[in-house]
Amino acid sequence: TYEKAWLIAAMLLIVGFIATITYGSIGLGIAMVDDEGGSIDPNEVFDHEEFSDPGVQQVGEDEYEVYVRAQTFTFVPDPIEVPAGSEVTFHVTSPDVIHGFSVVGTNVNTMVIPGEISTMTVEFDEPGEYGLVCNEYCGPQHHEMSGQLIVT
Ligand code: CUA
Repeated sequence: TYEKAWLIAAMLLIVGFIATITYGSIGLGIAMVDDEGGSIDPNEVFDHEEFSDPGVQQVGEDEYEVYVRAQTFTFVPDPIEVPAGSEVTFHVTSPDVIHGFSVVGTNVNTMVIPGEISTMTVEFDEPGEYGLVCNEYCGPQHHEMSGQLIVT
């Protein structure tokens, strides 16, 4: 019947949309999985268990947690090294003023507010090198605040 044909057509259209969206994120080699944060006292960032000595931690077979301090005018650690094909969760905070944390060429881009922990999970499918930039004006050397993310 006509109704059945329309129903099938509508379902194919929906499947097509989902396929397009999925392909889009695979094509970029990147997929945002979740976005949850938290907060700490900005004055205690340097005493914090993770943010006092930030870096990459392996927490599962293909799972990594990356702690990053965005501070005037640098990212710590720099460079950040993670393996391709793994699930990487970034936790970024600032001990001083508002910064940005942006992975150039990807949709990873967040504001970093003092004491607020910006969290995002990303998968990098292919090895490569990405620039990290601060995209919030944070002072006279804002434009020099950059870093490097190496996907091995
Ligand atoms: Cu940090 Cu601009």
